Amino acid sequence: MFRTIEWLDDNTVQYIDQTKLPLAVEQITTSEHERIAHAIRVMEIRGAPAIGAAAGMGMALAALESRAKSKEELIEYLTRAAATLNVRPTAVNLTWATNRMLQAARAGPSNVADTIRLLIQEAREIAEEDVQMCRRIGENALSLIKPGWTIQTICNAGSLATVYLGTVGAVIRVANDKYGNIKVYAAETRPRQQGARLTVFEFMQDGIDTTLITDGMIGTVFRQGRVNCCVVGADRILRTGHVTNKIGTYTMAITAKYHGIPFYVAAPTSTVDMASGPEDVVIEERDPDEVRMINGQYITVPTAKVYNPAFDITPPELISAIITDRGVLRKPNEEKMKRLFGSSAPRGVKTSPASDQLRVDSSDDREL
Ligand code: MRU
Repeated sequence: MFRTIEWLDDNTVQYIDQTKLPLAVEQITTSEHERIAHAIRVMEIRGAPAIGAAAGMGMALAALESRAKSKEELIEYLTRAAATLNVRPTAVNLTWATNRMLQAARAGPSNVADTIRLLIQEAREIAEEDVQMCRRIGENALSLIKPGWTIQTICNAGSLATVYLGTVGAVIRVANDKYGNIKVYAAETRPRQQGARLTVFEFMQDGIDTTLITDGMIGTVFRQGRVNCCVVGADRILRTGHVTNKIGTYTMAITAKYHGIPFYVAAPTSTVDMASGPEDVVIEERDPDEVRMINGQYITVPTAKVYNPAFDITPPELISAIITDRGVLRKPNEEKMKRLFGSSAPRGVKTSPASDQLRVDSSDDREL
């Protein structure tokens, strides 16, 4: 398991370069917020909670760089830094973290040096809270996962997509720690291969029995009874219970429903956007060459027309439950989302302690 990103005591940020995995495990250290923005853009750091933590640390680096003489100058510099860091539009964790850092700066002391200290502390807290939220997701999922189950996932929502444990990673690791015999099927996840490169790598490192399949094999493995449930991550969970996640998630959810396989989404509170419905989400479209090429080689006509959305939206009727740090929400809908998260929170709001956790899983609710 990896500490994907970390604030070091010399006020630099260290992270694993995920573009090199699994062939090399290399770390990059920086003291510049623009380097963090670049890392998010080129996906050296990726996965919604990890880019949120990175953006928080990027804001703290910006505060250190700013040379601001007044609080107003600092806020101006931080506002520009937030715009620089928001380089991917879909995962809400990014704006969640930059907004939270801006709010902390505004509410902080009038003295610039004290505000900078506070922002460093806030960035560290965002990262630490992510570790704790993932742990609670894993614990909350235990009631849904049975001994010996094989879990289908897509993309990478493991430790590399968060600060430490992962969301799907926590579900699998906590269940495997308890039962010792959880297995994983990882879909390769074209075009960036996060499943093949990252999920397979990190679960194999942990000694978890992991099988790689191509995205097109999902229907076949479901029909053959090789999979007991699906657990996927999320980039943005909307007030309606719709889930935005890696392209291919929607297809997997439809296929799971057809085969009667439970479809679970695991995500922290920082991924919930109670201000938006599906029509408000901007789906990132990435470089066509991601689809035209594999390992730097064209696999099609170099001028081929390409459509390359990085994410899709799965409607709540295909989702058996959303597993969060606050509790398990079976058969999600707008009303249950409001009960668990309130109508405006939690964008930029700190998480509640474990003792406040709710469970919204009325006993008459059945799995899909
Ligand atoms: O494009 P990526 O690799 O950043 O996409 C990541 C995903 O879609 C993950 O499933 C999601 O961010 C959840 S990570 C815990």
